[in-house]
Order: sequence, then C-alpha cells, then structure tokens
Amino acid sequence: MIRRILIWDAPTRVFHWLQAISFAGAYLTAESERNRDIHMAFGYILLGLIVFRLLWGFLGTRYARFSSFLFKLGEIIAYLLSLIKGKPGHYLGHNPAGSVSVWLLLALGLFLCVTGVMALQDDAVDAVVELHGIATSIMLAVILLHVIGVLVSSVLHRENLVRSMITGFKSAETDEGIRSSYNWLGVIMLAAAVVFWFVFLR
Ligand code: HEM
Repeated sequence: MIRRILIWDAPTRVFHWLQAISFAGAYLTAESERNRDIHMAFGYILLGLIVFRLLWGFLGTRYARFSSFLFKLGEIIAYLLSLIKGKPGHYLGHNPAGSVSVWLLLALGLFLCVTGVMALQDDAVDAVVELHGIATSIMLAVILLHVIGVLVSSVLHRENLVRSMITGFKSAETDEGIRSSYNWLGVIMLAAAVVFWFVFLR
C-alpha cells in the first residue's frame, strides 16, 4: 500500500531553501561595492546555515544524518550504471549520485564562506580573493548538475523531489518515515536568519 511518509524534517528544508536564497543573493551582490554589506549578510547567513547542517548531520533525523548518505564508491558507480540503463534503484533519502552533489555543495559552501571572511581581513592576500571567485564558479557548475540531477531523478522515478524538499513528504510503500519534523527548530532558524539580517544591515 502506497502511503505518504515524512522524509525531510523542517530544519533540513529550511536549511536547503535559505541556503539556496543566500547563495543566489550573495552571488547577485558580489560585484558591486555598494552592495558589499548585503553580500556579507548573505554570506554570514550561509555560514551559519552550513555550521548548523554539519551539526544536524549527526544530531538530526534519519534521512538528514550523514550516515544515511555516506555511500561507498562501488555503490555510487552501481547507481550510475543502473541510471544509464534507465532503471535506477529508489532511495527514500539522498540517492548515491545525489549524495555526491550534496557533499560537494556543503564543502564548497563552507569553503566559500571561510575564504569570504578571510578576504575581508585588512591583510588578506590576493590569492584568497581569487580562490573565493574560483570556488564560486565551481559551486555554480555543481548547482547546475544538482538541479539537473534532481529533475532527471524526478522524471525517472515519477516523483516530485522539489515538492518533497518543500513539504518533507514522499510517497512510498514502506512506513519508514521519520516521526518528528522538528517544526519548532525550523521556525527558530527562519527567525534567527531574519533577525540577523535586520540587525546586521541596520
Ligand atoms: C532551484 C534550485 C534548487 C532546487 C530545485 C533544488 C532541489 C533539491 C532537492 C529536491 C533536494 C533533495 C534531493 C534528494 O531528494 O535527494 C536538494 C538537496 C540539496 N540541495 Fe538543492 N536545490 C536547488 C538549489 C540548491 C542550491 C543553490 C544549493 C546550494 C547552494 C543546493 C544545495 C543542496 C544541498 C546541500 C542538498 C542536501 C540537503 C540536505 O541534506 O541538507 N540546492 N535540493
């Protein structure tokens, strides 16, 4: 029997969409000196989100935990081969190929924030600023692959993964969903980001 089960808790969903907004905002305000404060506000929010996600990867619910999407190279290759044959295995959380982009996006996001903060220092060397720019270009490419992967996977499995990242729910024949969504924590994250935004840009 197919049922609707909860996969993504609220903190993971809030993290995801705030992260996407923060990256887009920081990217669009990167070039102009006039928008420097806005660029920094987005960057600090992104840094806070990634630090939170690193903790949530150990403390969070089943599918948010790193252990649930820490795949071996063999599993990733097997998944890619099954994808080529048009019969990819179905995963309730991140699939092995998707997990590669997730790890890359988290690592690149952290690297971007750290080099961004370093670039703000008075004695910052040019190489740091250059690395910040290079990491941004790599991040854009990985985001493009990530979004293509999400769309391909949605079509192959006939399931709307974007909607799942919004509502938290997927349809499946098992009852292996998570029990709590931790909505209160998602609300605190949203509120913290909004408060930080206004205090920082006051
Ligand atoms: C419109 C653009 C985007 C869409 C439609 C989208 C969609 C998704 C979906 C559906 C998932 C869950 C994948 C799964 O079911 O395994 C996901 C996960 C993820 N996405 Fe995106 N994404 C977008 C933009 C971004 C951006 C800009 C970033 C990075 C800056 C990003 C980083 C991530 C990360 C790190 C995860 C893993 C979430 C977690 O486990 O915490 N995404 N995305």
